[in-house]
Amino acid sequence: MRNLTQDNITQAVIARMADTPDARLKEIMTSLVQHLHAFAREVKLTEAEWFQGIEFLTRVGHTTDDQRQEFILLSDTLGLSMLTVAMNQDKPQGCTEATVFGPFYVEGAPTFDLGDDLANGAPGVPCQVRGSVRGLAGEPVPGAEIHVWQADAEGKYDVQRADAGHQARGMLHADGKGHYHFRSILAEAYPIPDDGPVGDMLRATKRHPWRPAHLHFMIKAPGYETLITHVFRNGDAYLDSDAVFGVRQSLVADWVKQPDGNYLVEYDFVLNPAKDAP
Ligand code: BEZ
Ligand code: FE
Repeated sequence: MRNLTQDNITQAVIARMADTPDARLKEIMTSLVQHLHAFAREVKLTEAEWFQGIEFLTRVGHTTDDQRQEFILLSDTLGLSMLTVAMNQDKPQGCTEATVFGPFYVEGAPTFDLGDDLANGAPGVPCQVRGSVRGLAGEPVPGAEIHVWQADAEGKYDVQRADAGHQARGMLHADGKGHYHFRSILAEAYPIPDDGPVGDMLRATKRHPWRPAHLHFMIKAPGYETLITHVFRNGDAYLDSDAVFGVRQSLVADWVKQPDGNYLVEYDFVLNPAKDAP
């Protein structure tokens, strides 16, 4: 087909993909082309603006490496990550809600015993964390695998510090009654990395880069869906303007200052039974 016009080019591109063998890929690509073209038409995209967009995405690519995932940050700050979580993690009432994974989980973090201190030298006010892991029917989930990671008092994850090793992260197992407890440091609000193109986008749109204080959890147990979530700190100034739109009211907990100046937070998790569970 030659001499395509702005009126028929969308259908021409879609027709070119008609033989895509994978039906789901065909559906996604067709819809992507339709929406991309509709977007360009709606905003009457100029060639200069299109080129600026290409340059921006090129910078996002160049900023991404093993330690820094600028594409995830872009997806997070555009609300696409949280939209995908919300659509796919629509759990029954009573289950702990899921939220964004974020870019700072590390495979192979150390394993701890109940009661251990995960901080491993990370700066921060000491904090006790405890609670339980249960199933939707209230049954305890003994031995549930609990992965935890968090930023330190300076708002940095260990992976953002050269040679820090594993700090303020680790894995432990719930006890025979599904209870867990560990020590770490007080979670503080922190800015997502904003020294790259995503930071430029935030500034250009008058947005701040801050996330409210939180602990990350990933909880796994046979027979249950894996839960990826956070526990947020009640009273944080950024709960209503999280840079990545991840806050759920049900995930906000009180972090209570103790007489010795340390903190205590308690949170009980409820897992959704896996669809293929007996
Ligand atoms: C985080 O909470 O670790 C995070 C989530 C999304 C983007 C950046 C950081
Ligand atoms: Fe985080």
